[in-house]
Amino acid sequence: MGSIQANPASESFEAQAHLYKHIFSHINGAVLKCAVQLRIPDIIHSHGQPLTIPQLASKLEVHPTKTASIERLVRLLVHNGFLAETKVNEEEQEGRRKHILSLHLLSYLWFKEEEKTIVESAFGLGFWDLLERDHQYMKSFNEGMASDSQMMNMALRDCKSIFDKLETLVDVGGGTGTTCRIISERYPNLKCIVFDLPQVVESSSGSHNLTYVGGSMFESIPFADAVLLKWILHNWDDESSVKILNKCKEAISKKDEGGKVIIIDAVLKEKEDDNDMAQVKLLFDILMMSTLNGKERTEKEWNKLLVSAGFKHHKITPLFGFRSIIEAYP
Ligand SMILES: C[S@@+](CC[C@H](N)C(=O)[O-])C[C@H]1O[C@@H](n2cnc3c(N)ncnc32)[C@H](O)[C@@H]1O
Repeated sequence: MGSIQANPASESFEAQAHLYKHIFSHINGAVLKCAVQLRIPDIIHSHGQPLTIPQLASKLEVHPTKTASIERLVRLLVHNGFLAETKVNEEEQEGRRKHILSLHLLSYLWFKEEEKTIVESAFGLGFWDLLERDHQYMKSFNEGMASDSQMMNMALRDCKSIFDKLETLVDVGGGTGTTCRIISERYPNLKCIVFDLPQVVESSSGSHNLTYVGGSMFESIPFADAVLLKWILHNWDDESSVKILNKCKEAISKKDEGGKVIIIDAVLKEKEDDNDMAQVKLLFDILMMSTLNGKERTEKEWNKLLVSAGFKHHKITPLFGFRSIIEAYP
């Protein structure tokens, strides 16, 4: 009888994805409810033939700024088997056009209004401002992020080539510093800076090669050989992400050669990922859309974003679980 060698890191990351899938599974029900309340199935049925996303959005009378959000809602409904997608013309519209036969917090009304996120509609302020106002919520959010980052220990073991030649690293939006602490312990000669909003880093203390700096990544980022952005860009739309990436470019500009931005985020690959993995990424996409006006991105969307921010080339390496490392070079 053959024996199966388990890989503890890959098992842990699969377990993490499985856990996230269940934690956010309520989004599936909410998205379905939203689709029914928006009358998506009725509209498709009475149309009698496939509709494009723009046709559907105009019949739904959603706010013009929400057409892309309808496409993402439909993408999850297609993945879950409630709608079918038909290709009509491969040449058309960047290769293909999709034809398609409440999060308890996601209401169908959200699609009718201009407000950017559900958090803004409900509380009158953005997610990060909400966290700043509610210290208990900020504490539990930061703990959640720290425990996610704890898993990096296993992933970073195999990433020596990514950090090897660096002398300084700044972890932008590094939270309470779990990822950076792991990196600083693994590479004792690497000087690491955790950079986050002042209220997040104010009570953190560093080590001989780890310091904390408070500020906003939209204003200025401390100079370093490389910038790490772990789970940051999926929080932001393309316009804000380009602004962040431009500030990152300024931060690494002193390094003549080899300066880079290291992005850890998901890359959507619906057709290639197994069902569970695709599901986790699509659930996060709806979560980001509704709470932060952010998004999960396909390889093509990452490429477009990085080119718009003036990066000349990049390399995507899949990590364990549902995230990848993207090394981007100006
Ligand atoms: C999703 S969390 C990711 C935290 C950490 N990178 C991780 O993966 O555990 C996003 C982080 O971005 C930070 N953030 C939000 N707005 C920021 C800004 N304008 N400047 C710097 N950091 C910001 C938040 O405080 C939060 O720690």
